[in-house]
Amino acid sequence: MTDYVSINRSFWDNYAPEWVTRGAAAWRASEPYWGIWETSEAELNLLPADLQGLDAIELGCGTGYVGHWLEQRGATVTAIDNSSKQLATAQQLAREHHSEIGFLMGNAEQCPLPNESADFLISEYGAAIWCDPLLWIPEAARLLRPGGQLIFLGNAPLAMVCTPDSGADVTETLQRSYFDLHAMDWSEAEADPGGIEFNLPLSRWIDLFLKVGLVLDEYLEIQAPEGDVDNAFGTPRAWARQFPAEHVFKLSKPARS
Ligand SMILES: C[S@@+](CC[C@H](N)C(=O)[O-])C[C@H]1O[C@@H](n2cnc3c(N)ncnc32)[C@H](O)[C@@H]1O
Repeated sequence: MTDYVSINRSFWDNYAPEWVTRGAAAWRASEPYWGIWETSEAELNLLPADLQGLDAIELGCGTGYVGHWLEQRGATVTAIDNSSKQLATAQQLAREHHSEIGFLMGNAEQCPLPNESADFLISEYGAAIWCDPLLWIPEAARLLRPGGQLIFLGNAPLAMVCTPDSGADVTETLQRSYFDLHAMDWSEAEADPGGIEFNLPLSRWIDLFLKVGLVLDEYLEIQAPEGDVDNAFGTPRAWARQFPAEHVFKLSKPARS
């Protein structure tokens, strides 16, 4: 296993207990919401209303609630995650909700699934930030059927450029090279130790999509809503009112002509 995959597995196995309550609430939600500001589905439109008869895969599913939202729209769902502890929570919540999601333990950069197995792929802070884009984007293109969609949400590159090496809250000063954005190792960060995350400059994301034959249908930069309360993820609301902390790519694989 690549080093960062095993480092991230240990990190998430240890962190999993802190995600149970949040995961359980999301499984119970009547409408989907996304990311650190819990932005509504009505605003972002990440999920097709009807996925009846379609196969969907969640890449880095954590506690599995996104997969549940997909199955509620009619999809047959497979969800992969690298942490057995996160999967144990997901499986427990799936039992409580009579869900039929098929869970797989593994690295979303190398899914044990055939080519063209899915009509819809999604990641919310799963593969989207924890897998190397140079590996998982080609893997997603392999898994996707012609005419299918890949949607993912994660940290916007600017937020990563403005986050100090200590892992402290995002700042209004530039902390690292934008053009060198790729792997970021937070495992030794004093303020907020984490795992190894990934991002790219926007031009490199777009270049990668072109190389693997995915079409960019929409790009969203999420602004924090007005209000007083910050979130638990190191991004002050005042910052995210002015700058994009999160982004969304909506991509598709052209249908065969
Ligand atoms: C923040 S959770 C994402 C799930 C959920 N949408 C959420 O926001 O809670 C991140 C998940 O990515 C998983 N992950 C990290 N590296 C991975 C990899 N290489 N392959 C699959 N999953 C991975 C972690 O185990 C963790 O459960």
